[in-house]
Amino acid sequence: MTGHISHAYAEDSKTIGSECNMSRRVLRTDLCDILGIEYPILSAGMGPTLFGEETGAPVDLVVAVSEAGGCGVLGAAGYTVDELRDKIREIKQRTDKPFGVDMLLPKTFMPYGDPDEGEFPLSKILNTIPQPHLDFINKMREELNLPEVEVIIKPDLTTMLPDKSIEVCLDEKVPLFCCGLGNPGFMVEDAHAVGTKVLALTGNSKNARRMAESGIDFLVAQGHEAGGHTGRIGTMVLTPSCIDAAYPVPVLAAGGIGDGRGLAAALAMGCVGVWVGTRFLATVEAGVSDAIKQNIVDAGEEDTCVTTLFTGKTLRSIHSKYIEAWNESGLEPLPFPLQRFISSELLKAFYQAEMREYVGGFAGQVSGLIHEIRPAEEVLWDIVEEAARILTEKLPKSVTVE
Ligand SMILES: Cc1cc2nc3c(=O)[nH]c(=O)nc-3n(C[C@H](O)[C@H](O)[C@H](O)COP(=O)(O)O)c2cc1C
Repeated sequence: MTGHISHAYAEDSKTIGSECNMSRRVLRTDLCDILGIEYPILSAGMGPTLFGEETGAPVDLVVAVSEAGGCGVLGAAGYTVDELRDKIREIKQRTDKPFGVDMLLPKTFMPYGDPDEGEFPLSKILNTIPQPHLDFINKMREELNLPEVEVIIKPDLTTMLPDKSIEVCLDEKVPLFCCGLGNPGFMVEDAHAVGTKVLALTGNSKNARRMAESGIDFLVAQGHEAGGHTGRIGTMVLTPSCIDAAYPVPVLAAGGIGDGRGLAAALAMGCVGVWVGTRFLATVEAGVSDAIKQNIVDAGEEDTCVTTLFTGKTLRSIHSKYIEAWNESGLEPLPFPLQRFISSELLKAFYQAEMREYVGGFAGQVSGLIHEIRPAEEVLWDIVEEAARILTEKLPKSVTVE
C-alpha cells in the first residue's frame, strides 16, 4: 500500500461517522445466516472491572448492538444467578433480535463465602489475605489519603455457580451461549436441544482444536492485543492458525478490531465475523465509568500493558499509576479470585476520589484507534460501511490481482 493510499484509508475512517444515516449496507457471512443477524459483528462479553460494579457489557449495550444488526453479548461474569435471569428477561423484553450471554467457566475456582448466606462486605474477609498484600493496600490508602469504601462480595456469582447459571441460560433459551474461559463442550448437547448455539474463546491453536472437537458452534480467536484477560499470540498470527486448527468450525477474530479495516482483514483471513470489545466499551451504552471511557479515548496504542495485578491472570489494561505502584512493590499476585479482592478494594477508592490516572481501565491496544465515545449503533454501522467499501471499492491501487 502506498503512503497516499493509506492516508486515504485513514481519512475515510475519520469521516465515515457522518454517513451513518445511509441506507443500510449488505455485508453478510454464514455467521449471519446461522444466528439470524444482519452483520457479522458481535459485541464482546465484558465483565465488571471490580467486585460489585456494573458489567462492561450491560443490557443497554446488548440491546443497542442487536437492534443495530449485530449480536450483542451480555457480560454475565459479575452477575448473581438471579440477576442473570432478570437481565436475560429484560433483554428479551427490549428486543426480539438474537443476543448472547458470556460467562466464565474456570476449571478450578477458589470459593469464598456461602451462596446461601448472600452478600457481605469485603472488609469481613480482607484480613485473610497475606500480610505483605494487606500492607500494600494500607500503604496506598495512607499515602494517597484514600476515602473509606465498601466493596460488596456476592458469593452467588455466575462464575461460582456455573451449573445453575447454564441452567438459567438454557431455560431462557438464549440464542448464543459464550464461554470466555474454559471449554463449554460438556454443555453443547443440552444447548443444542433448546436451540442455543455455543461459542468459546481461545488464545492459542492447541485449545482451538480441542474446543472444535468438543462440538462448539463458533470459536473466537482472541489475540494478545485484546483488552481484559489475554494470551501471548497476536491476532494476525493467531487467527489463521486457529482457522486451520478448528476447521470446519467457523472462527471469529478478536483483539485489536475497532474499525472496518479490522473487519475487512478478518474476513479476508477467512473469519465469519468479529468479536469486538474495547471499541464497544467507549460507547454511550457501555457499563464502565465515564473515567474509563475517557481513558480509552485519551490512550494511544502504547498506553496499555499486560498485568496480573487485577485478577492474578494476565490481563490487558490501560497503564496507570496503580499498576506502577504494584510493579514497584515486587509482590507476587495471589491466585484468582483472591487477587481481585486487593484490586477491587483500591480501585473503588480511586473511582470515588476521581483519580483517573490510578483507575486505568481494562482495555485493548485498539484504544489508540478510538477517538470518541459514541452510540453503539453508530460504531457498528461505521465498521460495516468502512469494511464494505474496502471490500468492494477500495483495495489499494498498488495491488494488482489477475
Ligand atoms: C473491560 C473488559 C472486560 C472483559 N471481560 C470479559 C469477560 O468477562 N468475559 C470474556 O469472555 N471476555 C472478557 N473480555 C475480553 C473480551 O471478551 C474480548 O475478547 C476482547 O475485548 C477483544 O479484544 P478488543 O478489546 O481488542 O476488542 C473483557 C474485555 C474488556 C476490555
